[in-house]
Amino acid sequence: MGELRGTHVPVLLERCLELLAPALGRTGRTVHVDATLGLAGHAEAVLEAHPDTVLIGLDRDTEALAHARVRLARFGDRIHLEHAVYDELPEVLDRLGYPAIDGVLFDLGVSSLQLDAPDRGFAYAQDAPLDMRMDQTRGVTAEEVVNTYSHPDLARVLRVYGEEKFAGRIASAIIRERERAPITSSARLAELVRESIPAPARRTGGHPAKRTFQALRIEVNRELAALETALPAALDKLTVGGRMVVLSYHSLEDRLTKHALADRVRSKGPVDLPVELPGSGPTFRLLSRGAELPGEAEVAANPRAASVRLRAAERLDPEAARQGRTDRERYRRRVKAMHQPGTGSPGSGTDPRSAPGDGNGTDEEGEGT
Ligand SMILES: C[S@@+](CC[C@H](N)C(=O)[O-])C[C@H]1O[C@@H](n2cnc3c(N)ncnc32)[C@H](O)[C@@H]1O
Repeated sequence: MGELRGTHVPVLLERCLELLAPALGRTGRTVHVDATLGLAGHAEAVLEAHPDTVLIGLDRDTEALAHARVRLARFGDRIHLEHAVYDELPEVLDRLGYPAIDGVLFDLGVSSLQLDAPDRGFAYAQDAPLDMRMDQTRGVTAEEVVNTYSHPDLARVLRVYGEEKFAGRIASAIIRERERAPITSSARLAELVRESIPAPARRTGGHPAKRTFQALRIEVNRELAALETALPAALDKLTVGGRMVVLSYHSLEDRLTKHALADRVRSKGPVDLPVELPGSGPTFRLLSRGAELPGEAEVAANPRAASVRLRAAERLDPEAARQGRTDRERYRRRVKAMHQPGTGSPGSGTDPRSAPGDGNGTDEEGEGT
């Protein structure tokens, strides 16, 4: 295990703690899952803030786990650190004997440990073997992707995961180059990308290889497939009042998160029915309106926070959800009555603005953007 390089500031730490507190601060022992433990910055703060909380920390990177183990050692038997991909969460919980959890955090993407490591190939700014596996014990490397994928497959990966406009040109340049000699270094790949895009485009939007490296990292680690499975699985494990917070760093992660939550916050019953049919009501409410962005001070203190999007949700009590719908229906009827001649005039003693479930900006109807 090497020395830690640079500083590692957990992104949106205070906001994450604030959102998780009502779930983790409940009486008795509570269980929190950090699905992307990394260097355990968020995990450490959670354990400090909630002395009765047990932490289950997952990471697919053994080096990150080793650092986290040292950092969290003082919490003794309050921690379980597991080498796992986050879509394995249900099996991990079964193995550890925790049928349900109170909080879960996903802080997606790579850690500064991975980005800064001179030998892991994540960074276009440093020359290294093209590896990019978060879990170096298994899976294909970026070198294998770059040297074996067909032109259409390479172009698709770059276009979809990197949102790269010049995906076709870059894929062609990769194929030409590898016919000469295999592409084995991150510096050579970065240079190739730079050479293959038009000169004016090189001057805008950051380093020209940024999107290609992001795309290859997502492909190598099958990041989106794992996330698509992991989010519903984690939501299923939350107790009533339990909370999930997700920090995404690119639009594809954020879109998956938005859809996973939207599916739970919406009623599946008929719109006009005053009560929820059993099993058709929303099971979660959103705690963020749309995706929350970082403030200027956060970005100034922590450049990694610049692209973060936060979404959070809380599991509802099914009875409260049914009641909420009844209350909202009553509210709608009152508002409607106010607009009918001779009924529900102002001064009738009911103020529709105080109706439950409306107006607080975080009710379960507000899916946001
Ligand atoms: C941004 S870092 C987390 C930083 C952490 N919140 C902190 O405060 O130090 C993301 C971590 O998630 C891990 N990771 C990414 N995808 C994963 C997955 N599918 N399963 C498990 N861990 C994953 C990475 O290896 C990395 O260590």
